[in-house]
Amino acid sequence: MKLLVLLSLVAVTCQASSRHERRFPDDFLFGTATASYQIEGGWNADDKGENIWDRMTHTNPDVIKDRSNGDVAADTYNNYKRDVEMMRELGLDAYRFSLSWSRILPNGLSNKVSEAGVNFYNNYIDEMLKYNITPMVTLYHWDLPQKLQDLGGFINPNIADWFEDYARVVYEKFGDRVKHWITFNEPREVCYQGYGDVTKAPILNATDVGTYHCAKHLVLAHAKAYHAYANDFKPTQGGVCGITISVNWMGPLTDTEEDKFAAELKRQADWGLWAEPIFSEEGGFPKEISEIVARKSAEQGYSQSRIPVFTDQERELARGSSDFFGVNHYTANLVSASEYKFNWVIPSLYADIDVGTYTPPEWDQAASVWLKLAPNSIYNALTHLHNKYNGPVFYITENGWSQLLEDRYEDDHRIKYYRAALNSVLDCLHDGVDLRGYMAWSLMDNFEWMEGYTERFGLYEVDFESEQKTRTPRKSAFVYKEVIRSRVIDP
Ligand code: NOJ
Repeated sequence: MKLLVLLSLVAVTCQASSRHERRFPDDFLFGTATASYQIEGGWNADDKGENIWDRMTHTNPDVIKDRSNGDVAADTYNNYKRDVEMMRELGLDAYRFSLSWSRILPNGLSNKVSEAGVNFYNNYIDEMLKYNITPMVTLYHWDLPQKLQDLGGFINPNIADWFEDYARVVYEKFGDRVKHWITFNEPREVCYQGYGDVTKAPILNATDVGTYHCAKHLVLAHAKAYHAYANDFKPTQGGVCGITISVNWMGPLTDTEEDKFAAELKRQADWGLWAEPIFSEEGGFPKEISEIVARKSAEQGYSQSRIPVFTDQERELARGSSDFFGVNHYTANLVSASEYKFNWVIPSLYADIDVGTYTPPEWDQAASVWLKLAPNSIYNALTHLHNKYNGPVFYITENGWSQLLEDRYEDDHRIKYYRAALNSVLDCLHDGVDLRGYMAWSLMDNFEWMEGYTERFGLYEVDFESEQKTRTPRKSAFVYKEVIRSRVIDP
């Protein structure tokens, strides 16, 4: 009998302690994320300059699925108080949003600062702080001033100085109140899709060389903005500065050495181009990728490799230039060495890397073709990065699920996705990953780039037909609110 009592006591204690471990820490930042072009509107309000999305959607509307654009979007430019009200309704600790470069510097260069643009962001930030919501600010979420694109954009090495100058203006104007800075959002999408393909502005399609030159210049731009902060602002302002990279989990399709190597190549091509120069001990581009591109360049008759190298000085500038690793995570792919081994393996988008990717049909499918609910993918991705880069501080700066417009408020799939994701976050915390926060994408429906308004990621629905751009919470908003309040998933 005594033994039974003892055993049941032990069982209760174990349950209690495992329940205790499944709690999110009190200082863990729960937030949501958005980006300037996707929500703000006011595309030519006051003296805002034109950016590459304004130009592309106005001159080439057919590239957007529903021929829409971000001219008005959710009209946050006029509705920012309602946005903050929604943050309060959800009980958010933090809110990640981005600054429109050409709203602050209409020509992209720092010799002309827009007072109206600075006022808008001052008001937005102050409104958040009034309610103790921590602003997490991205400097670049894809809306390059058109003037700078006309000079070559990320193909021009001067982008590093232009970006540093812009960053300095921003730190100076907002750094007394903003303590979390993210230089760039998703370099992979900027470079592969905007410079190597036609799926993001400026649809340059310079496949062979565009991606890699953009990649190097973007890393240097990040590094310069990081050091500007670390040297000249951090000592008095005391915040942190990092970068956000898209990290979807790329695991091997089978246990063969070939598939494992293929998965590693895919990871290095997908995110290593930016993570290695900044977070690895050696710095510079991933060796495997540089070797492959050099070999292919020679075969193709180029007199030098299409992928540039970092000089020693550039390598040093970039190495270690981030206080945290921001991760945008959505899904996973299984990677195979032989593209055509099975007919369901999709050849890689990246011409230089001969691998195929696959997602099992049983994984739930979102409205976006690329997005499926993949089991444990946050855990797989973060523990991998944790081990590879010596345990950096992480923030999940985006994670979310898309639905079609018709599905409206009963977004049970999104709820299922968030529950799975947050459980995976808890597994990371349990295993010692230094993860400090989680931003759901997105606070509200917004302009989903080439998909226009056809795919909806919001915890709040936005009625884009209405004058006010009315925001209404979906079921998932209430679920997320309860997680934030209780700090557990299934209260
Ligand atoms: C990542 C991007 O940063 C964001 O702008 C986009 O809307 C989401 N993914 C969903 O596709």
